[in-house]
Amino acid sequence: MGSQPKLSIFLTKDEIEAAVKRLAAEIRREYQDKYPLLICVLKGSFMFMADLIRHLDFPLEVEFIRLSSYGRGRESSGKIKAVQGLRSKVRGREVLVVEDIVDTGLTTGFLLDHLRQKKPTSLSLCALTDKPSRRQFPVTIDYLGFTVPDKFLVGYGLDWGEKFRNLPDICLLEVEE
Ligand code: PRP
Repeated sequence: MGSQPKLSIFLTKDEIEAAVKRLAAEIRREYQDKYPLLICVLKGSFMFMADLIRHLDFPLEVEFIRLSSYGRGRESSGKIKAVQGLRSKVRGREVLVVEDIVDTGLTTGFLLDHLRQKKPTSLSLCALTDKPSRRQFPVTIDYLGFTVPDKFLVGYGLDWGEKFRNLPDICLLEVEE
């Protein structure tokens, strides 16, 4: 028999929506006249990005890239793959990376270094959640939704073996062995 995951709500969809609106207001203040390039890191950030830009009522561009570090399990493999899907010109742009979670920081750190080499005018990071207790690589988060404990979270884009991304709330997942 396989293990059965148990879910409990950690952040409700209303709490997430309030955080998204707050972040959008902060981002609008900084970027409304700058025609920024927002880079969504797939897959986990797709829902956050879609909700965030609905509250950004000024000209911007969006880009979607892949950069996976987790395998199918719950722990980061620490293996960083190449950046895939970046077609927009980054040089001279005001770039804002949009992440669902910063955990060890290895993925985001790698991506920010990669983008920095392309000489954007500015490079900032917006993350819905941050798990600082897990950090192995220092990452500065410019726009943060929630600081979260070292628990496994799913929903609102976050997965467990590709499941639960569709949950509207962010839930705590416990696996009973
Ligand atoms: C998650 C998340 C971040 C990264 C954070 O993506 O979206 O990109 O892990 O982990 P780190 O700080 O330990 O590097 P994941 O690799 O699980 O891919 P996914 O978004 O497609 O689920």
